Amino acid sequence: MKDVSVGICGLGTVGGGTFNVLTRNAALIAGRAGCNIRITRVASRRNRDDIDLGGVAFSTEIFDVVNDPAVDVVVELIGGYDTARELVMTAIANGKHVVTANKALIAVHGNEIFAAAEKAGVVVAYEAGVAGGIPVMKAIREGLAGNRIDWIAGIINGTGNYILTEMRAGRAFADVLKEAQDLGYAEADPTFDVEGIDAAHKLTILASAGFGVPLQFEKAFTEGISSITPYDIAHAEQLGYRIKHLGIARRRDDGIELRVHPTLVPQSHLIAQVDGVLNAVLVEGDAVGQTMYYGPGAGDEATASAVIADIVDVARIVASGSSLRVPHLGFAPEALENLDVLSMEDIQSAYYLRITALDRPGVLAKIASILSEHGINIESIMQKESEVQDGRIPVIILTHTVQERQVNRAIEELEALADTDGPVVRIRAENFN
Ligand code: HSE
Repeated sequence: MKDVSVGICGLGTVGGGTFNVLTRNAALIAGRAGCNIRITRVASRRNRDDIDLGGVAFSTEIFDVVNDPAVDVVVELIGGYDTARELVMTAIANGKHVVTANKALIAVHGNEIFAAAEKAGVVVAYEAGVAGGIPVMKAIREGLAGNRIDWIAGIINGTGNYILTEMRAGRAFADVLKEAQDLGYAEADPTFDVEGIDAAHKLTILASAGFGVPLQFEKAFTEGISSITPYDIAHAEQLGYRIKHLGIARRRDDGIELRVHPTLVPQSHLIAQVDGVLNAVLVEGDAVGQTMYYGPGAGDEATASAVIADIVDVARIVASGSSLRVPHLGFAPEALENLDVLSMEDIQSAYYLRITALDRPGVLAKIASILSEHGINIESIMQKESEVQDGRIPVIILTHTVQERQVNRAIEELEALADTDGPVVRIRAENFN
């Protein structure tokens, strides 16, 4: 069997996991790859005397890996945008294949990186960047290649899902976040997790590979989970829904929806059962119907599993000298369609609205009339006398699917009513029909 040489940049959570699994399962992986995958060089900006590298060459200069002529595959696990971009672009220029877990890098610089890689005849593989250990990019780019994909929706940030899950049991937000950080799930900057930026990176990649459009991260809409209250979690549950932080991408004739926000999902749907650090991605294809990919979205060896699957793919190319490869976004570059991201006013969704109303006659009628004037159909309404406080009562309404523009106008009018108090709480809802 031929040897394929791998150099790893970064020995953090995922780097350490990748080193361990590649070493532990070397014989099994060689059997699958049809070649021996040898780690010949490891670099980390921080000295890692604490890790036993079994004699593999180590350096604190990560560019040593991309400049080593003996390295066939560079595994980029340092994270971040700028140095990682330079590292990957240098690897490509040096004719090396790249495997990365860096979703931020791909979402933001992927168009440039893929173009350079195609020109150089190398592959930049990024399975581990999206939903950790779940092989969802492989499923979308290859397993569903016969389908027109209509929409993708997923729980694609483990930290956020862990927090929302624990909050259902009444735990405080900050407490749970700290625990997720200690377990190695959170990003270096955890606001990326809780504000939906990390999920938007992943959604951008999913949408591009699903619909065949260039990466457009800068146009993705993000709304985080930090303003979700236990009150709304409990009331959504009473309506038969659960609040999840979802990334949703929908392909329409006039553009694509690309949005990350807290979302009510029916408790009866499988995705409502996805708890803790687990991720799940739903994909609707015109031929297959609805499919769901479920598993660990973060963690050392779980993410290493996806990194190694990419290393195996690339090692087969290196060992066989094959020029056959799956295009980076699953579509030939000339087949990508320039569909723009739609503004949030143009998206379609159902809504959970919580209005604080003054407890007096006729208020409900006024609320209903504003909604009806804007063409908003009510699915259910909840108001409990036991929740009256200081003459105010929360009115909770679940709407049918409607254009966001109509809901924005209705909310403006509801907030202007003399019979309501404070802002209207709005959380989007999906039924996955
Ligand atoms: N911070 C990410 C998460 C890690 O919590 O899902 C995996 O991308």
